[in-house]
Amino acid sequence: MIVTIDGPAGAGKSSIAHQVASELGFEFLDTGAMYRAATLAALRAGVDLQDSEKLAEFVSRIDLRWRDRAIWLGTEDVSALIRTPDVTDAIRYLADVPAVRARLSELQRNIATGRDIVTEGRDQGAEVFPNAECKIFLTASAEERAKRRMRQLADSGRYLSLEEVLRSQNQRDLEDQTREVGRLRAADDAIIVQTDGMSPEQVLDHIVHLVRSKV
Ligand code: C5P
Repeated sequence: MIVTIDGPAGAGKSSIAHQVASELGFEFLDTGAMYRAATLAALRAGVDLQDSEKLAEFVSRIDLRWRDRAIWLGTEDVSALIRTPDVTDAIRYLADVPAVRARLSELQRNIATGRDIVTEGRDQGAEVFPNAECKIFLTASAEERAKRRMRQLADSGRYLSLEEVLRSQNQRDLEDQTREVGRLRAADDAIIVQTDGMSPEQVLDHIVHLVRSKV
């Protein structure tokens, strides 16, 4: 069974998808981590980010793996290294290239083959897994998402104002919603889960319930 969880930055997809997968005994796939790791690899290799053909060719050669709920470049676990602002700011160059998306979508389908899996990202329900049995679109208002992000950053010792967080979040939302291929959108058959005012436990319960109703 394939469960897709898509939604904008800061909607809490990763932690919810992770917990839903654990609760159901499913595998979990963070496709944002794949875009991030491909971007880290391109930055390290000094590939010209403006050159779509070079980026596509580079991504077709990298040894990108998802194992033990971690993302690897060859034998190196890069799960922590992909979360830096440098990587986040550069992702759009790769995520905008259709051939890069095709390659990563192919890897995602390979990972999901023959498995019960919860896969999380932007385009999972609408593009990568159109036949998924359960599609969730997880969202919250921009302000609620930014407040959660602020708290998360403060926990790791970074104190940003709501305005600063909102500005960069709005920029990412715009980039994610307007790319020609693989843009962020709810699949026609997705269930929209609006989480404003819900606790993480309530969101988890609600989604687990939705998935079980489809089994
Ligand atoms: O989910 P996360 O914030 O780690 O994703 C990082 C970026 O990767 C997103 O802002 C988006 O541009 C890109 N992405 C994508 N398609 C996905 C997952 C992530 O384009 N399926």
